[in-house]
Amino acid sequence: MRRPFIAGNWKMNLTRSQARDLAEDLAGRLEDLGDRDLAIFPTFVSLAEAADAASGRRLMVGAQDLWPEANGAFTGELSAEILASAGASIVLVGHSERRHVIGEDDALVARKLHRALGAGLDAILCVGETLEEREAGRTLEVVGRQVRTALDGLDAGPLARVVIAYEPVWAIGTGRTATPDMAQEVHAAIRGLVREIAGDEIADGMRIQYGGSVKPDNVDALMAMPDVDGALVGGASLEADGFERIARFEAKA
Ligand code: PGA
Repeated sequence: MRRPFIAGNWKMNLTRSQARDLAEDLAGRLEDLGDRDLAIFPTFVSLAEAADAASGRRLMVGAQDLWPEANGAFTGELSAEILASAGASIVLVGHSERRHVIGEDDALVARKLHRALGAGLDAILCVGETLEEREAGRTLEVVGRQVRTALDGLDAGPLARVVIAYEPVWAIGTGRTATPDMAQEVHAAIRGLVREIAGDEIADGMRIQYGGSVKPDNVDALMAMPDVDGALVGGASLEADGFERIARFEAKA
């Protein structure tokens, strides 16, 4: 069965010393959870610090974004190689704030995903519809297009290192979570699409996380859904007790 995967996206929060302290604290608290994957995504400047603090532990450390070239004249950007040299083993790609606040389109997100995998990083591909798209009945069309564009042209090896995070834009940072049934509907559709694109083995093995106002009090119900394999947690990942509780979600019956 799929190994559950709980990840904390720290976004633009925490100074270096705060990041080190929280990474150290979480690495210790979560060390006994051998049946699931756990990761944190600090800011770029705290990445090496957090990776040091978690070194030799179960907790993985990843980056929130990358630029899809190995090196060169890309002022302000970071390549997969540079991120790996700072201790990242995984990277977020196409987070909704990158798509909707910063303006990344599907084509750029696809380049980033391919580049990350090609450079040996694992990746979490984030997808999700806006409120307007949901209300227009376009959720599956939008999410389907995002998934298809990003996965197009990937072989089985790299595909097996992709995690998808379904994060409805209207649920991120709003306290408004998708119900477990709403999440399940979209997760099942994503898995169906991956099955079409890449076959049964990849589809059955692919982890699909839910993200958008995941909290200690709703994680168990979300994780009980058959196609919800994990969570990508923003706000609630900045506080050790809350994130630990989410990481210790009650496993499916
Ligand atoms: P949130 O963020 O948990 O604060 O809603 C989730 C995310 O953006 O990954």
